[in-house]
Parts: sequence; C-alpha cells; structure tokens
Amino acid sequence: MSSSFKAPRGTFDALPEKQPARRLVEDTSRLLLERAGYARIETPIFEETSLFARGVGESTDIVSKQMFSFTDQGDRELTLRPEGTASVCRAYLEHGMQKWPQPAKLWYSGPFFRHERPQAGRYRQFQQIGAEAIGSDSPLVDAEMIALLADLISMLGITDARLRLGSLGSVDSRAAYLEELRGYLRANDSELSEEVRGRIDSNPLRAFDADHEGTAKVMAEAPTMLDRLDAADAEHFEVVKGVLDDLGVTYELDPSLVRGLDYYTRTVFEFTCDSLGAQSGVGGGGRYDGLIEQLGGRPTPAVGWAAGVERLVLAMPNQVPEPRAEIFVVADDENRKRALRLVVDLRRAGVSADLDLAERATKGQMKQADRVGAKSCVILDSDREPVVRDMESGEQVSVALSNLVERLSPDAS
Ligand code: HAM
Repeated sequence: MSSSFKAPRGTFDALPEKQPARRLVEDTSRLLLERAGYARIETPIFEETSLFARGVGESTDIVSKQMFSFTDQGDRELTLRPEGTASVCRAYLEHGMQKWPQPAKLWYSGPFFRHERPQAGRYRQFQQIGAEAIGSDSPLVDAEMIALLADLISMLGITDARLRLGSLGSVDSRAAYLEELRGYLRANDSELSEEVRGRIDSNPLRAFDADHEGTAKVMAEAPTMLDRLDAADAEHFEVVKGVLDDLGVTYELDPSLVRGLDYYTRTVFEFTCDSLGAQSGVGGGGRYDGLIEQLGGRPTPAVGWAAGVERLVLAMPNQVPEPRAEIFVVADDENRKRALRLVVDLRRAGVSADLDLAERATKGQMKQADRVGAKSCVILDSDREPVVRDMESGEQVSVALSNLVERLSPDAS
C-alpha cells in the first residue's frame, strides 16, 4: 500500500542502514571530547529568531535565506536552529557558566535546519557534532580544538581530509582591512556578481566565497586579511600554527577562507574532503571573541567547531557492520512461547537474542537466523533436547533447557 505522506524534501538520510555509521561518529566524538574534558550540552531545537540574527549575522546566507522561522501562538518569533554556537553562548550567559573554571568546554550533537537546495551531502535537516571552549583567548585552545577535529576525522578512517587554515584578525584590525577591501571591490564593481555588489557594504568578505567567474577573478588579486594582521593577531596566529606543527597536524594556509557566519575573529579553519564533490566541507569553525559580548555578556573570547555527521559518514571509507544478534532461537509450533521466554531470559542475562515473530516454519526460521547474521542458533524441537548450533561451522551440541541461559551468557566459560 503506498502512502500519500512523504517526508519534507531534503530531510536527512538516517534510515536503519545508516545507523551503525552514524552511531560510530557519535560514539567516537563522545569518547574523544569527554576524554578531553568537554561536557555535553543540549540546547533547544528552536530559539528566538533574534538570537541567530544577532549572533550569526543579518547579512549571512544562513540568516537572510536559510532559516525556518515561524511565529508561535504567543506571537513569539522563533527559528529552528541553523547552528549551535549562538545557542551554546546563550546558555553560557543564561546559566552563569562564567563562574565555571574557564574556559567552559562544551560539546553537542543533534539536528540542525537550513533551508538550502537539497543535494548529495546537503540536507535541510542534518546532524552536527560540535565543540565550544568559551573563556580563553589562548592560541593553545585554537590548536587543541583543531587537533580534536583532526583526530575525530582520522579515528573515523577518513584519510583524504585537507585542513585549510586562516585568520580574520580581531574586530579592530579587521575594520581597517574591510574598508580597504570595500574600496577594492568598488573599484572593480563592474566585474562582480550582482549579489556581491549588493553586499559590498554589509559583508564584503563573502566576495571570497563567490562562484561567479568575474568575481573570482577579481578576488584572486584582492588584498587579504592574512597580509593585514596587526602584531597581536599575527603573533596569535603564529602560535596556533607552531602548536599545530608540534602536534603533527598538517594544514594549508588559505588567505581567502571566510566562513558563512559573521561571528568569527582571528583563527578560522575548515576540513574538506574533495571526494565529496560540491559539498566537501566535513567540519569547520574558528574563534569568535566578540559573540558573547554581542549577545549581552562581558567581552569573552571563545573558539569552536562543528562537523556534519552525514558528510563524515559519506567520507568514511569503511562500511560499519550492523550489530547482529548473537543467538537466534528457532522453535517448532509447540515451542514458540518457550522460545520467547528463552529469548527474554537471554537478553536479561546480557546476550543479544532474537526469534521469529512471523510464524515461519523451522526451515524458514533457520534461513532468518542466517539472514540476521546470528552467530549461533538454539533449536527447540519437541522431539529432542535443545540444540545449540554454530552458524559458521555447523557444529551442534545438545544442552538441557535449564542450562541454556547459563551456557550462553557472557560469563559462561
Ligand atoms: P558550518 O560550517 O556552517 O559551521 O557547519 C558545520 C558543518 O555542518 C559543515 O562543515 C557541514 O559538514 C555541516 N553542514 C552544514 N550545513 C549542512 C547541510 N545543509 N547539510 C549537511 N551538512 C551540513 C557552523 O555551524 C558553526 N556553528 C561551527 C562553529 C562552532 N564555529 C564555532 N563554533
């Protein structure tokens, strides 16, 4: 029977066959981040729209084009979160995390929403793993963060990720540079796309991101922030690079790396896997020393990243095996209830066990045991003592029903 209901276009691909790989990404992240002292945080799926408008930036694509926003019954303007950093900063301020030992180190995993054109690796609902360290301006934290994401990527077996690294300077040193860049863009405005021309005042950096041929040509010759860093920003960036060298994390300097969110200052970075095609960014982040202040807090430096679970899964070279039942219990008609009892007892003893629930004949049940990849099956047959059969070798042993759970439980010798 076909249903007339469909999931909204572009929702993520998270059906059962994707779950082992998705779980591996989440489990590996949790292990890595909790080992590094990051505490898990969950923030609401929707927030006040103004949080993202102020935090991420009105002129960004995310805020101007990609938010799923709505007015609720109480006339509040709400938005399904398009990213996690603004929410984590709100929680930091709202819940007094300034009083924690600084930096507060937090990580998260959950769904995010952007109204983008869906394609391979780009969904309107996607899962991110993210980490934020709030309350330190030490370049060691930038390097620690980048190394954590590099380690996550390598623990997942991904070997073709490139790390692009840049610095956007601090707000003050950037102001002078942005004026210079605006002047350069205006001098070349006949070559630029209409979109870039329209954003010369509000967001000139995004010109570096444009696919438009004329714009790209102009930007290849444009002055870059990396050449205009002031002494303090340049020193900060030198330390980040030096520590990454020490840690054996390789990177490419990318003077044109601008990210799609306005809050970045100083270090920015992105890991890309060329094998993924157009949507090659598997994870990225940077420092955002002005965001907490922008949201109403005291000036508080911070740095973080987020990685896309679907893209990490696409980039993982190895299939992640599905978990299989260790034991499949096969029973003739008289023993079906006993089979269920045995399965429940086995599960209570810590063994993964399953049985046929479609009233198949015993032959069909044996096939099902094979199909689900069970290591052994137990055959309950009214005419003989229960048999435990090794599915690979075919070897069989008889075991009294009363001894089965003990024999098959993990503590059995
Ligand atoms: P972002 O670069 O916008 O950064 O997103 C991080 C990652 O999320 C991307 O590298 C990509 O893997 C994944 N992603 C983004 N959009 C989609 C989509 N439509 N479909 C599938 N995957 C997607 C941020 O969100 C920042 N909050 C990162 C950060 C944390 N910066 C500092 N702290």
